[in-house]
Amino acid sequence: MSWAYSDLVAEVYGFDLPLGHTVGDVEYYRDALHNIRGRILEPACGTGRMMIPLLEAGHKIDGADHSPEMLDACRQNLEARGLSAELYVADMESFVRPATYEAVILPAGSIRNLDGRAATLRTLQAFHTSLVSGGLLLIDLIAPRFETAPGPMQYWSQEPYVWTRHTSHLEFDPVANRTTQFQRYEKWRDGELIDTRLHRFCLQHWGLDEFRALLEESGFEVIGLAADYRDDRTPTAKTGDWTYSAVRR
Ligand SMILES: C[S@@+](CC[C@H](N)C(=O)[O-])C[C@H]1O[C@@H](n2cnc3c(N)ncnc32)[C@H](O)[C@@H]1O
Repeated sequence: MSWAYSDLVAEVYGFDLPLGHTVGDVEYYRDALHNIRGRILEPACGTGRMMIPLLEAGHKIDGADHSPEMLDACRQNLEARGLSAELYVADMESFVRPATYEAVILPAGSIRNLDGRAATLRTLQAFHTSLVSGGLLLIDLIAPRFETAPGPMQYWSQEPYVWTRHTSHLEFDPVANRTTQFQRYEKWRDGELIDTRLHRFCLQHWGLDEFRALLEESGFEVIGLAADYRDDRTPTAKTGDWTYSAVRR
């Protein structure tokens, strides 16, 4: 099981994937939700990177996340823009609001943060219960890449601080189809280490047919599968991000 996005990990997320950061996903979700007039749920909304542009486009969105620190950052980001939304500290596996939402969105491959098939199925079923009949689920998978060599050090700076991240260990469990990385986060001031945290980051990987079967078992009908945030592109080994559109049967 991954450790939560807390403390330094949440702080660095705001630099690594700041508001305004998009790989085409923000535009894709905004267009795909164009006809939705009712409430939308983003059950792992993080700092609001996706949620805030959707609120600015006029949508009504509730956000949830199991990390209080990520939600604090989201709250501050909303306030700074004069926006408001209901935010819940909750685990997406058990957060249910029966027949409340016209759409549920899970970008950034966050479904991979769940540990194994049973947890993933329970979560998809929770989304199904929270949707109105015919409601839309938009959900990303990021294509698995099984690098096992440590990556380069990454850093971000903002006077007087520097934050660094080293990915020191990676492993792949072929039985569970899961990767584990140990990421060491550090915060420096004037060359002095003032804070550090180890983040165990696990990702559950899925083949496309396997994930479609999970969606169907959870009561969804798959109506679309886009690659790299383009409906005219189908997934291949060369595409990176896959987005399912599915409706509640
Ligand atoms: C990669 S970030 C994505 C955040 C945001 N959706 C975005 O697109 O920038 C993953 C988020 O999922 C949250 N998360 C992971 N597992 C969760 C769970 N079981 N329930 C709720 N939130 C979870 C993390 O705390 C983190 O904020």
